[in-house]
Amino acid sequence: MSEFHVRAVAEGEQRACLEVLEQALHAKPISDEDWAKMAPSWPAAGKFAAFDDHDTPVGISSSFDIELTVPGGRKLVTAAVDGVAVRADWTRRGILTTMMSAQLEDFAARGVPLAALHASEGVIYGRYGYGAATFDRGVFVERPRAQVRDGVGRDGVVRFVTPAEAVERVPALYNRFEGTRPGFAARPAQWWPGFFDRLVTGDGGYRVAIHSGPDGDDGFVVYQTIDTRDRTAPERGAILEIRELHAGTPEAWAGLWRFLLSVDLVSGVAGRGRPLDEPIAALLTDPRAVNTTEIIDELWVRLVDVLTALRARTYGTAEPVVLEVLDKQLPDNNGRYLVGPGGVERTTAEAELRLDVAELASLYFGQGFFRDLVVAGRIEVLDEGAVDRADALFHTARAAWCGTFF
Ligand SMILES: CC(C)(COP(=O)(O)OP(=O)(O)OC[C@H]1O[C@@H](n2cnc3c(N)ncnc32)[C@H](O)[C@@H]1OP(=O)(O)O)[C@@H](O)C(=O)NCCC(=O)NCCS
Repeated sequence: MSEFHVRAVAEGEQRACLEVLEQALHAKPISDEDWAKMAPSWPAAGKFAAFDDHDTPVGISSSFDIELTVPGGRKLVTAAVDGVAVRADWTRRGILTTMMSAQLEDFAARGVPLAALHASEGVIYGRYGYGAATFDRGVFVERPRAQVRDGVGRDGVVRFVTPAEAVERVPALYNRFEGTRPGFAARPAQWWPGFFDRLVTGDGGYRVAIHSGPDGDDGFVVYQTIDTRDRTAPERGAILEIRELHAGTPEAWAGLWRFLLSVDLVSGVAGRGRPLDEPIAALLTDPRAVNTTEIIDELWVRLVDVLTALRARTYGTAEPVVLEVLDKQLPDNNGRYLVGPGGVERTTAEAELRLDVAELASLYFGQGFFRDLVVAGRIEVLDEGAVDRADALFHTARAAWCGTFF
């Protein structure tokens, strides 16, 4: 059997590595035209690949640095893991495990405190210390049943822009939204060509509309329509599918929804990957026009530097708790941490709760509860009173949401 070796990707090897990813994800081979759009978002830097005896890539693990807003509003440098795959004829021989180790050691050596990814399956990344930390929702809003309440979302103007205008205007617009929602991603220049420009200038029929309020442009939506009409059901309209909807003000958000729900010959507006707490039902005269079609994990997060990550976020009001963290891949993280509203320190005090770094990661963005993981046997309790304290400290009222695909 041939052997593999894992090393950093060299300049000129990126396209072959992208082919490995596309094939593993069952996507079409990438055309020259598509590669030209994708290349700026797929540099050699930040990539580790597995190669066979002939130096042909058979596995890829890619990342680039972004900033994520953590609970409390601070931004933390985060390695956004944007492509992980092993060629089907090389799977289950430890390639992913070897690539993940190389990548985690690189993040730690560079002082990157967090890593995040979108997982294709729920069973892959826990073993590497990642936990499902933010969640999103699929919605289907029925038309014509959905009517936006009077007096909201009427003050602004929505206009279509061409793909070229969208490429020029939307990045600067998005960068102004830097809100306080935990999970928000500042999108670096590298992100836009492969993830946004390629989408809106491609042949998927995506339309971009921008909302303007009293202070200028303040929101945008990217959507496509899927025509489901036929002669046997003439009343059935198209489905309008939102790909992205971001707004800088509540009025811009309501104005964009008002616009989407006004498009003729549409029987429903569908959105995947929306925030759990997006108040669409509250916006409508009939809240039952909104259906939740799924709730699913969004970002899987890895605390690469536990102390730095814990210190970056804020905490609710409760007495401090002593957590003992176990980390097989990055043993520098092993140890006890005193976590409270006044700050976070390493401590020699007795542990009250003992948990793996993956469990801590899943609670880091303020979603989920220590109590639930205790019930599921995933947190060891050494002091029962610590469970409620830990929940009071970590849980946040606002739902963490990223809303940026990578
Ligand atoms: C997921 C994928 C990267 C795994 O690569 P791999 O090289 O086969 O993984 P490894 O051999 O290092 O496996 C490590 C462990 O994870 C398990 N594992 C890996 N992928 C798994 C999967 N999809 N389902 C269940 N278990 C999986 C292995 O069984 C192994 O377990 P063990 O340590 O108990 O023996 C590969 O199957 C793949 O490319 N799949 C299609 C694309 C994809 O889903 N990519 C991820 C995008 S987020």
